[in-house]
Amino acid sequence: MSPIYFPRISAEEAASMIEHGQTVAFSGFTAAGAAKAVPRALARHAKELHARGEPFKLNVLSGASTGKLDDILAEAEAIAWRAPYQSSKVLRKQINEQKVEFTDMHLSHLPQAIQFGFLGNIDWAVVEAAEITSDGRIYLPASIGASPTFLRSAEKVIIELNRYHSVRLSEMADVTIIPPPPHRSPIPIYHPLNKIGLPYASVDPKKIVAVIDNNEPDGIAPLGAPDEISRKIAHQVVDFLLDEMRSGRIPSEFLPLQAGVGNIANAVMSFLGDDPDVPDFYMYTEVFQDSLLDLMEQGHLLGASTCSLTVSDDNLQRIYNNMDFFTPRIVMRPQELSNNPGVIRRLGVIAINTAMEFDLNGHANSTHVCGTDIMNGIGGSGDFTRNAYLSIFMSPSTKKDGRISTVVPMVSHPDHSEHSVQIVVTEQGLADLRSLGPKEKAKKIIDNCAHPDYRDYLHRYIAESPSGHISQSLRNSYDLHNSLLENGTMKFWE
Ligand code: COA
Repeated sequence: MSPIYFPRISAEEAASMIEHGQTVAFSGFTAAGAAKAVPRALARHAKELHARGEPFKLNVLSGASTGKLDDILAEAEAIAWRAPYQSSKVLRKQINEQKVEFTDMHLSHLPQAIQFGFLGNIDWAVVEAAEITSDGRIYLPASIGASPTFLRSAEKVIIELNRYHSVRLSEMADVTIIPPPPHRSPIPIYHPLNKIGLPYASVDPKKIVAVIDNNEPDGIAPLGAPDEISRKIAHQVVDFLLDEMRSGRIPSEFLPLQAGVGNIANAVMSFLGDDPDVPDFYMYTEVFQDSLLDLMEQGHLLGASTCSLTVSDDNLQRIYNNMDFFTPRIVMRPQELSNNPGVIRRLGVIAINTAMEFDLNGHANSTHVCGTDIMNGIGGSGDFTRNAYLSIFMSPSTKKDGRISTVVPMVSHPDHSEHSVQIVVTEQGLADLRSLGPKEKAKKIIDNCAHPDYRDYLHRYIAESPSGHISQSLRNSYDLHNSLLENGTMKFWE
């Protein structure tokens, strides 16, 4: 690679160039590949300005959630607007207190929305890189996210050159920006490991205002061992997929899987790998989590397409120590491709995601508590669910020591409609909703998935509701939620 001639400045100097009211697109898809030094410096800068009575708030974009970046900037009250996804406790509180505006988006939509200015002008891209060249090649670290689009669309660019990461990650990268409509050809991905792009992102070198040197891990903590509930849910999902395969509804070579974020999905993947009857399989997914590493080393996971390596720091080192093994087996793509609806449909991806609640129609809520308070955002769950060959939603049947039923008459915020959700699973059981009419669906969801404490109420709700094609009471459909808000429990009968 060519030597680098870009000006080297400190993160503080870089932060001081960014002005109140500007839009900054940070690299990062989860904490993997997230910008680190500049957000920290920006937070310090914001606090200093606020102490002097001067305003400083930014419009913040990233690929998805970002680990510490959101926490740090939110703690400094430096965010005015945020898109497309976040998972920060501090930021979530500010969003729910209406101190920060949040635009919750399908992650596959973000690059196009930026390219066409739906989200306004992008003043800055702050992008972490494993390497750059003087002609503007940016070798991205542990995630691709929307960085290629940020680099193309932003007016000015700051690069955090993080020497912690292996430049060999570029052997996994498959970077391309889909051309604008109406001049799009079919995306030639016919297998999870097909590559159609370049190993690096590109930027006009004249836009690079500064390069900051860094040497810092992503700081991702390992996921805990699955709890009993996650294990029960995982067993149901594995048994169901095996039944589908035995009945010929999943081909014997299996289908590529997508698994959502968090402990339940991690448990499902471990159990799939442990089951000798599950054939070795591929993944076409958004996030490569810890459990996949073991599966890949054991040969059960043959390969994975992903947008990020969201693995603990130790596991990332494990990958770096064995790049000859991992690089031919992992493809890292921009989120427009890792989550591309057309490719997901073509490959016949089985989507396995977690919901906060689902209802007796089969609608799922992934994002809002009681219809008002955001948790994280829809993320990639909609990209996959709507287009999957099979779409599965999982959730424990209750939350908060049984005070919340995740099976409700009507979801308080619909993210995924009954037309996209096919299978719902709790630790109580699994309901396969395919081919069922509304009344059969409701009965099956109650009998198989609802916690026994809530079954009588839910059956009564259906029996006593006005009925057309669907039984639904516009008067009573939110009685459980109203009880939760008023009494701290959905069990208003106790
Ligand atoms: N009503 C009220 N609160 C609820 C709830 C419900 N129905 N369901 C969950 N909660 C609360 C939990 O009690 C917990 O609260 P706490 O932080 O006070 O403990 C919080 O919401 C998070 O729930 P938890 O069970 O820890 O969440 P999780 O880690 O299993 O994540 C989602 C579940 C739905 C929030 C998460 O999967 C998500 O953000 N999904 C959307 C994005 C996505 O699917 N991405 C992957 C696609 S590729």
